[in-house]
Amino acid sequence: MSARGATLVQLTDTHLLAGGALLRGRIDTWARTTAALGAAARFSPDAVLVTGDVSDRGAPVYSRAAELFGQAERELGCPVIVVPGNHDPAGAVGAAFNRRRLASGPNPADTVHLVAGLRIIGLETHGFREAAGRLSDRQLLWLRAVLQAPAPRGTVLAMHHPPIESLLPELAGRGLARPGELAAVLAGSDVRGILCGHYHLPGTGSLGTIPVWVSPAVSYNHNLFAPEGSKPGTDPSWFSVIKVGAGQFSATPVQVPVPAAAPAREVPVPARQPALL
Ligand SMILES: [Fe+2]
Repeated sequence: MSARGATLVQLTDTHLLAGGALLRGRIDTWARTTAALGAAARFSPDAVLVTGDVSDRGAPVYSRAAELFGQAERELGCPVIVVPGNHDPAGAVGAAFNRRRLASGPNPADTVHLVAGLRIIGLETHGFREAAGRLSDRQLLWLRAVLQAPAPRGTVLAMHHPPIESLLPELAGRGLARPGELAAVLAGSDVRGILCGHYHLPGTGSLGTIPVWVSPAVSYNHNLFAPEGSKPGTDPSWFSVIKVGAGQFSATPVQVPVPAAAPAREVPVPARQPALL
């Protein structure tokens, strides 16, 4: 952390697949994730956050991902902090990552970290095969207790499901359920910002007075003007750079230099296929 504050790099929704499979037949998500981690070096982060959907549909990628993230920790000289998304089965992230955590909450993926005076709290918002994310009463009680003592340079929350709605109407109700309960816990705390993913579309908002950043995804992002029925994959890969300093919180989307795409193979899908982000 410089005198001006901490720098965090946020990757979200990597959607890694096993056995060399390509996401939707065309997206090499391992290549995109590796490229994003390599590009992160330019920003000399104090920590890298991975905000869920590490795997795609629960594919068994966690030991290989732990190797990749461990290598990034060594090369970047900072921790890689991971929370699960709705594609990550319960327990998978808690068992594979966050070896340097200071404490855990009711779920193994509820973790506390301190990076150069900035506290980072990762929260498991569940949601595997569920419509929305959620925080349990036990998690909220635990979070309230942790936040009783302020951190030297404040706190940032990392969680998959945003406590704000998406621009896309088909994603209504797919974020964090009952965000008001979280807002009540955070009122008066030292939380400086909330970092999320899940929507595969960047956005910002607030929960009470606390800024919320929804990062664009590493794997793919929604193209609001794509022909109906077409699949994503040619869109760029993105991560975010977060700055947390005295009196400031900023988030900047950064386009990743993308390796050569797999051979294009457009597969039409029914226009009304249910979204699984
Ligand atoms: Fe996702």
